[in-house]
Amino acid sequence: MQLTKWAHALAESLLADSLPRRWAHSQRVYSQALTLAPALGEDAELLAAAAIAHDIGYAQAAVDTGQHMIDGARYLRDVVGADPRLCSIVAFHTSSSWEASELGLEDALSEFGPTEPELVDAITYCDLTSGPVGDLVDPAERLSEVLERYGPEHVVFRAVSAARPELMARVARVRQRAEAVMAKLS
Ligand SMILES: [Fe+2]
Repeated sequence: MQLTKWAHALAESLLADSLPRRWAHSQRVYSQALTLAPALGEDAELLAAAAIAHDIGYAQAAVDTGQHMIDGARYLRDVVGADPRLCSIVAFHTSSSWEASELGLEDALSEFGPTEPELVDAITYCDLTSGPVGDLVDPAERLSEVLERYGPEHVVFRAVSAARPELMARVARVRQRAEAVMAKLS
């Protein structure tokens, strides 16, 4: 619980006042992470901490490359000395790899490897089921909303378009794992 509390306070201090919509979104991503706790076992707290902090790279204090996943991970690593596994989940969340390729930032992203695929799947599921103001949303609709918001000239549009099949596959894997765990428990 200590790690989650710490990450929650950090994210709140960076986002709540200056970026209230991102903060509302982050809180929903966090609550979605809690729903995956039975499937994650001892990594449940790590995921919850990553969930609340996953978008801190948008905060003014963290902006560096402009790729928010890398900027958030760098802030966690360099400014607050976070656990490397936490930094890695934040670095690789959702469409990060595709955005890094678009921006020529593959080397910067690789500083945070290796990835932990099960946790990257989980954070991606949490992010894509959480809308921009903290509402619960369908992942396919969420991706459509992102594409619409950025428009075809934007790097995020190109990255998300390319990433879409894999992102939906991540969501499907998380649902399958969660259902299998629930079936065992019942
Ligand atoms: Fe997010």
